[in-house]
Amino acid sequence: MPNNLVRHYSLCGDRWDAFSYEIAVLNTSDSKGGSSWIHDHLHEGMTLPFGGPRNHFPLVPADRYHFIAGGIGITPLIPMIAQATMTGADWRLLYGGRSRRSMAFADRLQQLGQHVHLWPQDEKGIPDIAAWLGEATPRTAVYSCGPGGLLKAVDSACEAWPEYSSRSERFVAAERNQSNNRSFSIHLKSGGVAEVGPRESVLDVLRRLGRAPLSSCGQGVCGTCEVGVVDGQPDHRDSVLSDAERDLGDCMMVCVSRAKTDHLTLDI
Ligand code: FES
Repeated sequence: MPNNLVRHYSLCGDRWDAFSYEIAVLNTSDSKGGSSWIHDHLHEGMTLPFGGPRNHFPLVPADRYHFIAGGIGITPLIPMIAQATMTGADWRLLYGGRSRRSMAFADRLQQLGQHVHLWPQDEKGIPDIAAWLGEATPRTAVYSCGPGGLLKAVDSACEAWPEYSSRSERFVAAERNQSNNRSFSIHLKSGGVAEVGPRESVLDVLRRLGRAPLSSCGQGVCGTCEVGVVDGQPDHRDSVLSDAERDLGDCMMVCVSRAKTDHLTLDI
């Protein structure tokens, strides 16, 4: 944005339309400058630079999908619902929000019929996620996006489900323990070595070196600052990578992730 902020938003348009991207931006009272700028200053005809898109929340093939959204967390699920409909998969959606008026896309979604369970809290209270999900069934995937409390409820409801059944996207960082931070060194593939102290991030150090990648959230939730790891073992502290991607250890989010080894060689 012209105010030097970089923000990431979920694409919520037609994923088969290669010529346009659609995003939905919540006009929030606690904006840190991104959404308020978009609502106050962005207008038709303006040009903005963009990077990506990236997909850290892919839809895996399944016979049945349970989608669970809280508030603006509905956005990444919209193209998934369209895809599930297109492929004839069995799907249902639980979509919660403070009130019906505050729930983006509610009217459009309601037209999809009995698959869609709208849950305005001022009318129905807090949804019982475990009851809504019911028992684990084979070849079923659970996708959720929304505030931390909702994702926690989905995690605990899915505890007894087979591994990898549940996938979520966060827009608020999970809590991280910083007390065990230790120093390590980073080596840049293109040359250069630097020490990362316990109170700074790899991103801070890369900025100092003038080699920082694009970054946005600074909390390990957006995936913008992803950097390849050529050698060493990252200590992943983000909320973006899946367990399988963490095990591979070939990339890291430099705004929050650190090192388990004394050295890391980065693909920069
Ligand atoms: Fe968002 Fe690092 S800047 S994950």
